[in-house]
Amino acid sequence: MAPAGIKRIGVVGLGAMGAGIAQLAIEAGYETVGREVTAELGNSARDRIAHFLQRKVDKDRMTAAERESALDALSLTTELGAFADCDLVVEAIVEDLAPKRALFAELEGIVRPDAVLATNTSALSVTEIAAATTRPDRVVGLHFFNPAPLMPLVEVVRAELTSDEAVATALGVVERFGKVAVPCHDTPGFVVNRVLIPLLNDCVRVLDESRVEPQALDAAMTSGAAWPMGPCALLDLVGIDVHVHASEALYGRLREPRMAPPPRLVAMRDAGLLGRKAGRGFYSYG
Ligand code: 3HC
Repeated sequence: MAPAGIKRIGVVGLGAMGAGIAQLAIEAGYETVGREVTAELGNSARDRIAHFLQRKVDKDRMTAAERESALDALSLTTELGAFADCDLVVEAIVEDLAPKRALFAELEGIVRPDAVLATNTSALSVTEIAAATTRPDRVVGLHFFNPAPLMPLVEVVRAELTSDEAVATALGVVERFGKVAVPCHDTPGFVVNRVLIPLLNDCVRVLDESRVEPQALDAAMTSGAAWPMGPCALLDLVGIDVHVHASEALYGRLREPRMAPPPRLVAMRDAGLLGRKAGRGFYSYG
């Protein structure tokens, strides 16, 4: 059963996270509208989703008919006006406060009064984003993990003024996505990133202190601590720029030295060594 009243979901931004969220929404049977700034970016996100669904068909985890009906449920737009009929809109745009606040202020003039607005921010304050609207009670954090279709967790973040109804709606959708929901309050980094970001920063400092190569550190953590992937491979997956930005946001709010991005990561970011998406980070990608 769909959570009460939720039929149509909007996703703003179809980068790695937004496309993954849109994939989850169509697989869960929701009509889904995905918005990108250009039709080309939207089409390329749809192609990536179609590819991943085809892999599921190839591996007998979905039928070809289910794939077709999931893809039929996805429509693309470049206009925010297309969200007028959405019951829930999930924002997954650039991880900066000003554009997120501007988007939420614009969205509230478009969606119905009972629609829930969610942000996928990983380290910014949901409360500050909600405060850009006149109805912060219907704004909630829905923090997915990368890659969203594969990672089971979604943090459901209650900002200072979020209503019980908005949290219940978000929890219902996360359940329908087949994910593990962890409801939490709007604290810097929420639950996972509060732990993971300083931990990954420690890992990068260890590279220099122990004078080991990224491959050796990754082998140490996968073989010695049973991590599914090593810290350098994980940083490449997340994106060095995304991680540095999240570190800066946490450091800005908590002032703990371990939160500050290590200079080595800042230099990688400045040099464009952003990880998988750039073809080069700690590792090179063909
Ligand atoms: N979207 C959809 N489907 C995907 C995908 C994606 N981005 N990436 C891979 N898949 C599909 C593919 O079809 C693939 O199958 P194929 O190779 O046969 O086509 C299938 O999933 C399985 O992929 P893998 O073989 O790569 O799967 P693994 O078993 O190796 O697991 C993993 C991959 C789940 C990424 C695992 O390595 C893992 O758990 N890594 C840790 C990831 C992690 O910690 N993420 C959290 C990052 S922190 C974060 O997101 C917070 C943020 O705020 C910064």
